[in-house]
Amino acid sequence: MSMQSSSIIIRGLGSYIPKKQLSNDDLAKIVDTSDEWIQTRTGIKTRHIASMEENPSDMGTQAAETAIKNAGLNKKDIDLLVVATMTPDLPFPSTACITQAKLGLRTIPAFDISAACSGFLYVLDTVYHLLRSGPYKNALVIGAEKMSSTLDWQDRTTCVLFGDAAGAAVLSKVDTPNVGILGSTLGADGTDPSILHMPAGGAACPASAESIEKRQHYLRMNGREVFRLAVRAMEQATRTILDQFDLKPEDIACIIPHQANVRIMQSLGKYLQVPEEKIFINLNKYGNTSAASIPVAITEAHKQGRIHPGDYVILVAFGAGLTWGATLIKWHS
Ligand code: UT7
Repeated sequence: MSMQSSSIIIRGLGSYIPKKQLSNDDLAKIVDTSDEWIQTRTGIKTRHIASMEENPSDMGTQAAETAIKNAGLNKKDIDLLVVATMTPDLPFPSTACITQAKLGLRTIPAFDISAACSGFLYVLDTVYHLLRSGPYKNALVIGAEKMSSTLDWQDRTTCVLFGDAAGAAVLSKVDTPNVGILGSTLGADGTDPSILHMPAGGAACPASAESIEKRQHYLRMNGREVFRLAVRAMEQATRTILDQFDLKPEDIACIIPHQANVRIMQSLGKYLQVPEEKIFINLNKYGNTSAASIPVAITEAHKQGRIHPGDYVILVAFGAGLTWGATLIKWHS
């Protein structure tokens, strides 16, 4: 890869987890499941659920306040806002616009990206290129999800898997060469959206008495098929981005995968031949929080001292679409 005179670094991180917890035992009172099944099949122990008043923009605002503070910047320094979400506050306007107002930011451009669980990596790559080529210096990026609003609480095959959260990062352009985000690889295959989708509520099937009666406003998933494709896509994306920078899996200090299932993350480690201690896992506490999972995980990995200056870090994700991606970071000092 060519030498660059400036870099895009993750300058500040923040996360927000709603207070209310829902344990596996709590779920066993609602659907025919058990703590034992959920833990052994997924690795999830508990998850957090947003209150009625707490929307993705509210959770994103909280995470962003922390990220801006940790970056040592003021709100007036932020000149771009992009939100990754598959559970927007409203069909329109964007959650980014609502968040911009709640944060009290200037009238900077604000937009959402919809790429489900890969959303945060789609945002990172888009914003990386905007910061490189555009007039922007400091961008606020957020992954915020209220998955609980999409779940069919009568369907044990999906409702036990997800949780609510938000994570945020401030990305800044700096004059140091070859640090921070080195590059990303993204992909999508839209040939079979039904593998993981919400059938109604969009223009193709607006809400009606019939769509409600058929319970079409909930997330539906072929879990086994997603599992199979996820491991393959994440391994391939990781190898692609490492190859681009002449690196090998053993050069990576920390892999931060999308947190969907501990067995998916373990399989990824096995195929890449990366020891388990290099794979960051916090799924046990939060479940799958879709686009929030990676920013929440980097925030925690960084806080726990799992990432050091000079470390190569891989972020890797997959999700509905299908979409996938991997980002390579050389952590700045
Ligand atoms: O971010 C992307 C989002 N999605 C994912 O990442 C999901 C990827 N897939 C997975 O994580 C796994 O496929 C699941 C956790 C969803 C399911 O695990 P699995 O090992 O693939 O189980 P399965 O779907 O093959 O189901 C095994 C059995 C079934 O019973 P039968 O047909 O063998 O009698 C299910 O009905 O487990 C049953 N089952 C449950 N039992 C207790 C399914 N859900 C539950 C449950 N509690 N919650």
